Amino acid sequence: MEIVIVPDAAAGGELIASAIAELVTRKPDALVGVATGSTPLPIYTALTAKVAGGLDVSRVRICQLDEYVGLPAGHPESYRSTVIRQVVEPLGLSEASFIGPDGTAEDVAAEAIHYDRALAEAGGVDFQILGIGTDGHIGFNEPCSSLASRTRIKTLTEQTRVDNARFFEDDIEQVPHHVITQGIGTILEARHVVLLATGANKADAVAATVEGPLSALVPASALQLHPHATVVVDEAAAAGLKLADYFRATYAAKPSWQSI
Ligand code: GLP
Repeated sequence: MEIVIVPDAAAGGELIASAIAELVTRKPDALVGVATGSTPLPIYTALTAKVAGGLDVSRVRICQLDEYVGLPAGHPESYRSTVIRQVVEPLGLSEASFIGPDGTAEDVAAEAIHYDRALAEAGGVDFQILGIGTDGHIGFNEPCSSLASRTRIKTLTEQTRVDNARFFEDDIEQVPHHVITQGIGTILEARHVVLLATGANKADAVAATVEGPLSALVPASALQLHPHATVVVDEAAAAGLKLADYFRATYAAKPSWQSI
């Protein structure tokens, strides 16, 4: 894993958006996996600025990481609506270039299998953006998710429902219990996985992900198995890293032609 410690969230967003811009220049129809939550917003802001500055994303395809089960179609907090609002519209993409699991499907298990297949048929994810839950989850793979899991239905922990209640008028009753999420095995198939974590409340999860043992208890630790995983953290989220100085020195000495 490459660990990059940046001064703040905006710098993390700029770094990751630059890597996406480089990918898109090399592969105009790249499939970019997007994440929801507050953390990736600086990435989308920086990418939108690059598009305004001339970056051509007209052939880029995007895919969703996860989705709540049971929210009515068009619910503003469904991840589909969120991605349309935060990524599709600002970047000027068409909804046709965007795939995601249908959280309203009657047969959720079949929908999950169908989405896994759709990702493979689209040629696989080139660049997967990830955030991290305070309990170390990626996508909605809660602790003790199988490290080999495929896209499937999961039940949210109470902690995640508490964390996400802020998107539902601070009313935990409105937060769904069930979700469809790309599995950890599915996520690990992306060619490049980039996790952004910012803020002091992510410091423990980041330390466990990067320096802890590989464990289903910390789903993000599965990134240790990935041949090209990048973890971008701000100073606050890096606070628990024992090897922080080593990570800083390594990144500072990186050849300028080599991106993340
Ligand atoms: C949700 C999403 C995750 C995201 C996490 C953290 O649980 N399913 O993909 O990483 O929230 O969100 P935030 O970045 O707002 O802390």
